[in-house]
Amino acid sequence: MGAGIAELCALNGLDVRLAVSRPASLESAPRRLAASLDRRVAKGRLTPEGRDAALAAVSVGTDLGDLADRELVVEAVVEDEAVKLAVFSTLDKVVEPDAILASTTSALSITRLAGVVQHPGRVLGVHFFNPVAVLDLVELIPTLLTDESVCRRAEEFVTALGKKPVTVGDRSGFVVNALLIPYLLAAIRMVESGYSSAESVDQAMESGCAHPMGPLKLADFIGLDVVAAIAEALHAESRQPLHAPPPLLSRMVEAGILGRKSGRGFHSYA
Ligand code: 3HC
Repeated sequence: MGAGIAELCALNGLDVRLAVSRPASLESAPRRLAASLDRRVAKGRLTPEGRDAALAAVSVGTDLGDLADRELVVEAVVEDEAVKLAVFSTLDKVVEPDAILASTTSALSITRLAGVVQHPGRVLGVHFFNPVAVLDLVELIPTLLTDESVCRRAEEFVTALGKKPVTVGDRSGFVVNALLIPYLLAAIRMVESGYSSAESVDQAMESGCAHPMGPLKLADFIGLDVVAAIAEALHAESRQPLHAPPPLLSRMVEAGILGRKSGRGFHSYA
């Protein structure tokens, strides 16, 4: 998500600083960005000059201190509340008081993230969808404490990127994941119980409902660890059985079978 958001910002003429968590990403992040921009050039959708300008607009580092002069920071670290709280706590000390602190969390409470910040009025959720380049929606999630001016600036930011913002309440899963995740979990339960194969479930929803990908392919695409983490967060808030991660999903995550990114999920990506 971080790479997709950085690319989108750079293509829209913004000055972007990417703070990566692993030193290896110092080299791989610019390479990945260049490869993605090259694909746009090859398709005739970007000039070579536009690619060079976008590449030059993004600098990469590992130190959150490098973000001190940013007007807006979008946190996109792993979907783990403790990790996100630590990042927010550091950002609060590093970034100017009038800068916006945004999170791309899929299901964690924005209010709790704002709780570790001195001025919680500057915190809100800015939830992009994967692939960022393709999907238009961005959910904006103000808390009860978010300043009106912060909401307005966040909406201007998202609109300037060519995305369609919708403002939603700070409830686990917001709108999209609150509706999408129970559907994905129901599909996983169908496979778990032997009711249907992953191939048949996906084929049914692609051919029967014109979905671009069936629910098991989509779960693999999102990442099974991410789906499980979102389900846990939804379940912790709602206590409803439909949000509980099915044991098959938990076992797959424990086994490192994480979907596309690990080469194997409900389908194989060798
Ligand atoms: N980055 C950039 N562009 C991409 C891309 C990527 N990762 N993946 C696909 N594209 C572009 C392709 O370049 C192509 O563009 P073009 O038609 O202009 O040339 C277009 O998307 C279609 O791609 P393909 O022909 O390769 O493949 P498909 O037609 O099968 O589309 C898909 C792939 C766009 C991923 C489509 O299957 C899709 O939209 N799937 C649903 C994705 C979805 O539901 N995402 C939401 C997940 S939930 C979420 O993100 C929230 C989080 O909190 C979990």
